[in-house]
Amino acid sequence: MEQIYNIAVEAIKKRCGIIPETAVVLGSGLGTLADAVENGISIPYEEIPGFLASTTPGHAGKLLLGRIGKKPCVLMQGRFHYYEGYRLQDTVFPIRLFKLLGVKTIVLTNAAGGINLSFEAGDLMLIRDHINFSGNNPLIGMNEEDFGPRFPDMSHAYSRRLNGLMRQAAEICGIRLKEGVFVMMSGPSFETPAEIRMLRMIGADAVGMSTVPEAIAAAQCGLETVGVSCITNLAAGVSDRTLSHEEVLEAGLAASEKFKNLLLQFIKMID
Ligand code: HPA
Repeated sequence: MEQIYNIAVEAIKKRCGIIPETAVVLGSGLGTLADAVENGISIPYEEIPGFLASTTPGHAGKLLLGRIGKKPCVLMQGRFHYYEGYRLQDTVFPIRLFKLLGVKTIVLTNAAGGINLSFEAGDLMLIRDHINFSGNNPLIGMNEEDFGPRFPDMSHAYSRRLNGLMRQAAEICGIRLKEGVFVMMSGPSFETPAEIRMLRMIGADAVGMSTVPEAIAAAQCGLETVGVSCITNLAAGVSDRTLSHEEVLEAGLAASEKFKNLLLQFIKMID
């Protein structure tokens, strides 16, 4: 394993005594879960060796360690995207670091465009599976055997057990949780209406520019993963609206209370 991982683990352990069991990656406009962290220790990404810089508006660029209820957690306030020009291998550095820190469960969240015609802006969608349409894969290159096999199985990338818990959490919160297949496009341009029609034909329900590389890296190193998309807009061509990042952030913020409640309930229920 590259030395940089050990250096990063030591840097975090020196700042914070907590050994996190659950990691949450917060998507665009979905950062409010951070308010629920008690006695949190916040570390800017630039102070963590191996971390990239978070350049996207709506992504704070901080790691937050602390407890949510009784659960020791680590939250990524902002993630790294392929469209920022980074190598996918580097964008999943935090996922592998979480594994080394002792994390067992990872919650991946994102803002996404709704492809499924029954979806509305503001809906939350449990990610049952994904399609990697990014044109790349974070595991390309020399395999780091310490993180898992060269050819990892992806049949159970999204944990059935955690999916069940997320459904229960939604029911307790009175949230109608949609479900579906998430597809990743590289971005940063939004899709064309023709691309959205194609993505619907191949079985996608929601589209975004993140999450899939993280889910692949998590599956390889044996982290139990659950994913939730916040449908911030109807995808291109589904409605006549012009798409913008500002609209995505606003819709994320509008849904963030619901989102926070769902995740708090879910975190309470995982063991
Ligand atoms: N397309 C791609 N990514 C997105 C979208 C979208 O419509 N909305 C939020 N992230």
